[in-house]
Amino acid sequence: MTANLIVQAPEGVSKYTDRLADPCIMVIFGASGDLTKRLLMPALFNLYCGGLLSPNFAIIGIAFDSLDTESFRKKMSEDIKKFNTRKVFDENQWNSFVQKLHYTQGDFSDPAAYKRLASLISSTEAKFATGGNILFYMATPPSVFELVSSNLQSSGIKDSDKGWVRVIFEKPFGHDLKSAIELNQLLLKHWKEEQIYRIDHYLGKETVQNLLAFRFANGIFEPLWNKDHIDHIQFSVMETVGVETRGKYYETAGVLRDMIQNHMFQMLAYLCMEPPSSFKPDAIRNQKSELLNAVRIMTPDMVRANCVRGQYGPGKKWDETPAVGYRQEVDVSPNSNTETFACLKLFIDNWRWDGVPVYLRSGKNLWKRGTEIMVQFKNPPNILDKGQESSQSRSPNRLFFHIQPDQGIELRLQGKSPGPTMATQTVNMRFDYGESFEASRGTGYEVLLYNCMIGDATLFSRTDLVEAAWRIAQPIFDVWENEPATDFPNYPAGGWGPKKTYDLIENDGRNWVEVVSRDVLEKIPLFKDTGKIFLYNLAINLRPDIYAPGDLIIKKGDMGKEMFIISSGTVEVLDDQGRVMNTMRDGAFFGELSLLNAAPRTATIRAATDCDIFILAKKDFDRVLKTYPEFLDKIKKIAEDRYKVGAITPPWGQQK
Ligand code: BG6
Repeated sequence: MTANLIVQAPEGVSKYTDRLADPCIMVIFGASGDLTKRLLMPALFNLYCGGLLSPNFAIIGIAFDSLDTESFRKKMSEDIKKFNTRKVFDENQWNSFVQKLHYTQGDFSDPAAYKRLASLISSTEAKFATGGNILFYMATPPSVFELVSSNLQSSGIKDSDKGWVRVIFEKPFGHDLKSAIELNQLLLKHWKEEQIYRIDHYLGKETVQNLLAFRFANGIFEPLWNKDHIDHIQFSVMETVGVETRGKYYETAGVLRDMIQNHMFQMLAYLCMEPPSSFKPDAIRNQKSELLNAVRIMTPDMVRANCVRGQYGPGKKWDETPAVGYRQEVDVSPNSNTETFACLKLFIDNWRWDGVPVYLRSGKNLWKRGTEIMVQFKNPPNILDKGQESSQSRSPNRLFFHIQPDQGIELRLQGKSPGPTMATQTVNMRFDYGESFEASRGTGYEVLLYNCMIGDATLFSRTDLVEAAWRIAQPIFDVWENEPATDFPNYPAGGWGPKKTYDLIENDGRNWVEVVSRDVLEKIPLFKDTGKIFLYNLAINLRPDIYAPGDLIIKKGDMGKEMFIISSGTVEVLDDQGRVMNTMRDGAFFGELSLLNAAPRTATIRAATDCDIFILAKKDFDRVLKTYPEFLDKIKKIAEDRYKVGAITPPWGQQK
């Protein structure tokens, strides 16, 4: 697949590719809008600088705004300064690229606009020798897809018999299954399937394309890639942004339509599809379609049991600044039922995946930004502790695809901790994009535009794929629309999402595996100025959990099995009569005394608000303290001061 040649490209494009894009005119409908200035122009300019655009290439912008070629060039020349992704912006190159830009003003419903467009196309074609190839780009709301398509047809513009004619549509492709089928039928009245390129910008991401390379260019994982070896799969797309200025659109969408039905189902298809017979576009797309068609369609009861929705309330941004709740956002109804967070448990009914749960979650205004896929393998039989008094619980092997902003692949394994005993700990093997490649700083659109210009549709969605994805989501929309949420808002902005998301997976005896980065831990005062290796060791051993107000976290008299670190929320320390003696909030930790002393808990602790808490199991706590004596000193000192106890000597011998 040609797209693969672009993987190592500096600044979004490749110097290794052997093929120029075909000559063509790219006609952008909606050229004065955001998409053009933010993504299309920077991407086209990257292709140009990378020598991938044909010299016989030109752009025509058309939109309602009254601009002409000169003012359009001027506007783009200003915008590119802000939005280009190049390490060094070369003014000379831009000045020659800008000569390719043209503009005609027009109302999309006015036949005269198409006449002007036709004449501009023919003069541009003659000037740039584009060979009759035309690429239409609909940077417009979907409501005008049909209008523009039928006007292009009636004006004869799209029936160039001299070269190829292709059209790129931006999402959303429909609002639900019914409207998606109708939209597809309308589009197919004007275009042949092979002319239609539906953009899902996730497929332009290197790390997403690399899912295919990882699976089909390496032999070692395929024998394990099935229900016999894989326990479950997690997909997480966490965003720190809220809906910002997009309230109007978001009210009609929600996260299920905005992120899951499209981007996440595309990643699901790549990760779980059968090997294609070749890397030809339809060989890949056929397998994706098969996979999506194998996803179990939920009944209303299954939706109620396997899906969780959430909406953020007031809280704080990840950087601690205050954030309003979703219902207080501009253009959002104060009683909105729109979900800004969703979590689904899906099953794929085929031979490979029978019975393997796939958990997906995505949300806005969360505590961290990160797109991650985690494949958890089944645990081996525990022979290491056979015949021993106690056995150690060990994390299973986990394979992570870090999609963004962290980009890499990581395999977590058990390794022997140095020392005389056969104690193990979680360690990892990691491939990092930044270390292995001259990582590209493109927009992600380069590869999509380039592939369309060479006629490779691999990275674009097809009618059947779009409909298969809607078919999975439709029963969820139906239940959620008929049964408005009674608990919205159910997570604070800046939090980890609704508690029910954690209950859903924990009821299955599993946990969300959060990828905790060092900078998240460094925000917690206890971990400030601790070393890199220390934080690494800690980060891969923390387990996240959510507590609702009133939940007991620690009970006096119990033996301690864990230490707790509050990421956000407030907990109360209770005396024997249940009176609140003290409260602790974000950044505080508790539960360490009982572990240090190997003695029962001395107080009861309960959540006062929704609490997002990291948990460090006793065995990891012990190991961390043994390995890092400076940290042991720090935590002992804090405990001694806090509890006014004498010097603490951890009885390591008893701490198995
Ligand atoms: C878009 C959604 O498709 O994807 C946005 O409409 C979302 O709501 C965005 O923020 C996420 O894209 P990325 O590339 O930042 O993960």
